[in-house]
Amino acid sequence: MRIALLKLLVPILLIPSLAYNQSADPNPSIEKSIDSILGKMSLTEKIGQASQRGTSSRVKILPEELKQAVREGRVGSVLNVLDRNNVDELQRIAIKESPHGIPILFGRDVIHGYKTIFPIPLGQAATWNPGIVERGAAIAAEEASTNGIRWTFAPMLDISRDPRWGRIAESAGEDPYLASVLGRAYVKGFQGDDMSAPNKIAACAKHFVGYGAAEGGRDYNSVMLSENTLRDTYLKPFKAAIDAGIATVMTSFNDINGVPASGNKFILKTILRGEWNFKGFVVSDWNSITEMIAHGYCADAKEAAFRAANAGLDMEMTSTSYENNLRELIKEGRFTEAQLNDMVRNILRIKFKLGLFKSPYVDRSRDEKLLSKQHLADAKEAAVESMVLLKNKNDILPLSKNNKIDLIGPLANAPHEQMGTWIFDGKDADAITPLTSLQAALGKKLVFTPGLANSRDRRDTGFKEAIAAAMKADVILFFGGEESILSGEAHSRADISLPGAQEQLIKALKKTGRPIVLIILAGRPITLGNILDDVDAIVMGWHPGTMAGPAITDLLLGNASPSGRLPVTWPKAVGQIPIYYNHFNTGRPATAKTFVQLDSIPVGAWQSSLGNASHYLDLGFEPQYPFGYGLQYTSFDYSNIMVSNAVVSMNGSVEVSATISNSGKRAGTEIVQFYVQDLVGDVVRPVRELKGFKRITLEPGQKQEVKFSLTAADLSFHNQAMKEVTEPGKFKVWIGKNASEGLEAAFELK
Ligand code: GLC
Repeated sequence: MRIALLKLLVPILLIPSLAYNQSADPNPSIEKSIDSILGKMSLTEKIGQASQRGTSSRVKILPEELKQAVREGRVGSVLNVLDRNNVDELQRIAIKESPHGIPILFGRDVIHGYKTIFPIPLGQAATWNPGIVERGAAIAAEEASTNGIRWTFAPMLDISRDPRWGRIAESAGEDPYLASVLGRAYVKGFQGDDMSAPNKIAACAKHFVGYGAAEGGRDYNSVMLSENTLRDTYLKPFKAAIDAGIATVMTSFNDINGVPASGNKFILKTILRGEWNFKGFVVSDWNSITEMIAHGYCADAKEAAFRAANAGLDMEMTSTSYENNLRELIKEGRFTEAQLNDMVRNILRIKFKLGLFKSPYVDRSRDEKLLSKQHLADAKEAAVESMVLLKNKNDILPLSKNNKIDLIGPLANAPHEQMGTWIFDGKDADAITPLTSLQAALGKKLVFTPGLANSRDRRDTGFKEAIAAAMKADVILFFGGEESILSGEAHSRADISLPGAQEQLIKALKKTGRPIVLIILAGRPITLGNILDDVDAIVMGWHPGTMAGPAITDLLLGNASPSGRLPVTWPKAVGQIPIYYNHFNTGRPATAKTFVQLDSIPVGAWQSSLGNASHYLDLGFEPQYPFGYGLQYTSFDYSNIMVSNAVVSMNGSVEVSATISNSGKRAGTEIVQFYVQDLVGDVVRPVRELKGFKRITLEPGQKQEVKFSLTAADLSFHNQAMKEVTEPGKFKVWIGKNASEGLEAAFELK
């Protein structure tokens, strides 16, 4: 048994685990105010604070029933109230007419922008730039708060390893380190250093927890996770957001090892409150409390209320099991008013931190910065940095401005689609499409023949016109991918190739002999097996938002250079899923040497374990593109990896550095990545784990040394005894451009 070093034995290593949890800081004056209000509230009002009423995101007129419920103090929060006059009307009723004038908290899904739409979160993750993510969240808060929204149900921090799952589009990808860095950036952007500022809003870490591990990538499906994987992968980004002071957490729809998240004491009490000392409040997902009946975890709504309230779920979103049952459960002694007081305390604490008691109404003094020039410029920058160059045969990109272009494809002029999933307030009319921007840049040198009406169009009626135009062009730009509705909630796909007749059209265009540049606008990686060799270049644009057109035009014409890197592993085919870089080695790891290609097997071969390795005979063991992958318009060379000390003491640190040089002809941005492997552990350890990354921009011929440092705390994991430990032993490190290549070195922790 390796002598494991328990974290608590080495004070110096406690730093990350004691990271300052801003939401935990007790503010005495707020706590005093809460006590005084709580002391006056009736049971009805307390249950009211724990109830969030939903209106459909289309409701324009406030229902009388909702106003009356507010008047009686039976509502603590409302989601999807559309405009600020309605917000202020409801707020006025709450302040002036309800028993104790407790302000309402207005929430909404402001996931990647409010009016100015940024790339979908998976696209923002591809920037590997926390500054971009923070800026986008700050702009979303600025815009949403001008309409009275003071709480967003974002960021979504679900680790996503399965692109069949539609909600991968909303995630920060497959890696806990990258998702943690971006999670902190979202919190800072939405909440700032002081949430009571009128242009800041409370954030919500969702969906707690393990939602992205839904079996088969089918949304809402069951999740079976070992506690080690739960703690060392899925919980990590949530811990980072809570240490950054996020105000709220939302429970997920799924069950975790048979216990639905909304009634799960282990995650809500033991971990969130007990281990992490979270002081914000927990909201359910839409009806997720009463969905525990369908789960077969609760017999009826009263049981659901009993389970959720006793698990520590503070606020019920849209279903009314709390309103209808908590009073009785208290009478029966199955729940206590003291527990209810704690729930209300958590909710009031955030309302105070938002300044709602002082300034409950919409601050109309702030000019509406909706879609300001600066906001649009920032959204364009985010879109440019999100795009990933996956293929560039013969350096066909960037295009020469003299090229005659045939613009084809269902997403070249689709303003609604380019904005992606979870868009309620962004308007199609404000979205600038690739057609509009490319036409402005290229004029008559551009011909547009869509070829297909939408991404699912199976008709070939538009092929002839497109082919004829392509014959007269130098280059074909094909904007393909998915309409926005094909990813997002409840939109999982079992086949993640290009929908409709897009592949057929690409193959028909291939026959013209003109080079094809494929730009994919989609909410997930798309399997390209059937057309990979038919196209000369591929840009993954995700769903880039309002400024999709200007961003892709700058990239295609070379006014900007691609710097995006994949935040998820890109599979060759859906049969490889789940496929992710930070997997375990297994006892028979697949290598090029052991791999047996299906067609190389002689007919009638005698019975054997071909290759004796963990691979697929038909597709091998490598993805189409690895985590962290992305090309540029220049080339970067890595050299001279150095480790500061081959032996590192437990309370010491080690520095690993390398020299990066721009060996190409254009300036470019490289995202230098730092990976570590713990070779032996009390439980098996991933073959690689991202532990750092740095963005550097170099002119041609320029070089720069990039350094990363590690302490033992950065190498901790949960052992079989479920203790977070760092064990002595040998480690490998890589500094490279993605998870499958890089300069290698080693050190030993003693
Ligand atoms: C949805 C989603 C959640 C969202 C909530 C409110 O069902 O799961 O992410 O924030 O309901 O719209």
